[in-house]
Amino acid sequence: MIRKFRRSDLETIEKIEDKAFPKLPYNRFTFLYYASAYPDNFLVYLEEAKIAGYIIYYPAGHVVSIAVHPAYRRRGIGTRLVDTVLERTGGYAVVEVRESNEAARKFYTHLGFYMYKVIPAYYGDEDALVLVCRGSETKWC
Ligand SMILES: CC(C)(COP(=O)(O)OP(=O)(O)OC[C@H]1O[C@@H](n2cnc3c(N)ncnc32)[C@H](O)[C@@H]1OP(=O)(O)O)[C@@H](O)C(=O)NCCC(=O)NCCS
Repeated sequence: MIRKFRRSDLETIEKIEDKAFPKLPYNRFTFLYYASAYPDNFLVYLEEAKIAGYIIYYPAGHVVSIAVHPAYRRRGIGTRLVDTVLERTGGYAVVEVRESNEAARKFYTHLGFYMYKVIPAYYGDEDALVLVCRGSETKWC
């Protein structure tokens, strides 16, 4: 089940975030900012009432962040979160990925995203790959 983020989800989301992005995790103020600025675009995925992952995106389809708890990975949860964004945007999404993040690159490629461009030093210490899905309502990427 996918639903909007609630304030009571915060601690669990922070734990997922720390495991997913040990280098530079978002802090709670960042999550609360997105929850307040984009309440419809901060979604959590629940499996048997437990939070397994989340996605934050801007309304036009720019993915700000996505993470799935390690215990729940490779079960299609990330796919369902991105699919929800694509359903809402009519098949458009864009995301920046650290060049070294092989899992994320494979994940988005599997979904049909293509490499659009490289932004040098986007993360300070690393380039970003900009991946895009430009589909339609019937065929996403
Ligand atoms: C990227 C991430 C969100 C994927 O979530 P997920 O729920 O495991 O993804 P899915 O189960 O939907 O994967 C769909 C497909 O993507 C590919 N894929 C996903 N993770 C992969 C990995 N670690 N290695 C290789 N391929 C991978 C596979 O083709 C997979 O299909 P399969 O399991 O049938 O082989 C998750 O690995 C994660 O939270 N990573 C840490 C945070 C992160 O890097 N976020 C993205 C930053 S832009």
